[in-house]
Amino acid sequence: MIAKTEEDFNGLKEIGRIVAFIRDELVQRTVPGITTKELDDIAGELFEKEGAVSAPKSAYNFPGYTCISVNEEVAHGIPGQRVIQEGDLVNIDVSGSKNGYFADTGISFVVGEGEEVLTKICDVAKLAFEAGLKKAKPGSKKSGIGKAVFLTAKQHGLTVIKNLTGHGVGRNIHEAPDHIYNYNDTSDDELLKEGMVIAFEPFISTLEEQVYQKEDEWTFATEKSYVAQVEHTIILTKNGPIIVTQ
Ligand code: CO
Ligand code: CO
Repeated sequence: MIAKTEEDFNGLKEIGRIVAFIRDELVQRTVPGITTKELDDIAGELFEKEGAVSAPKSAYNFPGYTCISVNEEVAHGIPGQRVIQEGDLVNIDVSGSKNGYFADTGISFVVGEGEEVLTKICDVAKLAFEAGLKKAKPGSKKSGIGKAVFLTAKQHGLTVIKNLTGHGVGRNIHEAPDHIYNYNDTSDDELLKEGMVIAFEPFISTLEEQVYQKEDEWTFATEKSYVAQVEHTIILTKNGPIIVTQ
C-alpha cells in the first residue's frame, strides 16, 4: 500500500508494534526442550490479547499462528512437535493484522552456543538489512535494495536466496510490489514511491541460492546450506524509512 493519512501511519505502527512484541517474546522463550508448537501457542494467546489476527492463518489457512523454521528449514516452517536443541538455528516469522492494517517481521538466531557459521549468517543478515535500508528511498530503483543485500553477502563470503523475496504489505500480507529481490535483478526498473510500505527480508545463505518446498507443501528448505533472515515492515518516506516493527 501507499501510506498517506495519519490513520494509515498509526494503523501500521500499531500492528507493527504487536508483531514485533510477539516476535521478541517468542525469541526469549526459545530455549532447549520447548517445542515449536508450544512457542506458537504463546503467539496465539498474544495475538488474541492484542486484538490482532495472525496473517498466515487468516490469509492462507496456514497451520499455525507463526512460521517457525529450524536448521535446514528456511521459511514457512510449520509449528509442531519438533523440540528445540542447544545450538539450533531458528527463524521466527510473525505477521498479522489489526483494523485492516498488516505488518510482517522475522528474525533468525542461534539457541545458546552454536556453530560459528550460524552466528555469522545471522550477523550478516543484519548487515544486509542495514545496507538495503540505506537504498530504500522514494524515487530510487527498487533493485538497488537487492544489489546492496547481494554485495553485503559477497563481502562476507556468503550468498543469498534468490527464490525468496521481500514484498509489499500494509492492506494485505502480500501485495504490490510483488518482489523485492535479494540480488540486483537488472530487468526490474520499478521505482520506490513516497509512502510505499514494504516487508524487506534479506535471506543470507552459506552456499545454495535456491530453496525447495518440502512435501508438507509449506516449508521451504535447503539441502546443504544454512540460511538466516531478518525482516521488518517499513514505510518509505522522503525523510527516511520508518521501521514499524523495530
Ligand atoms: Co515474514
Ligand atoms: Co514477508
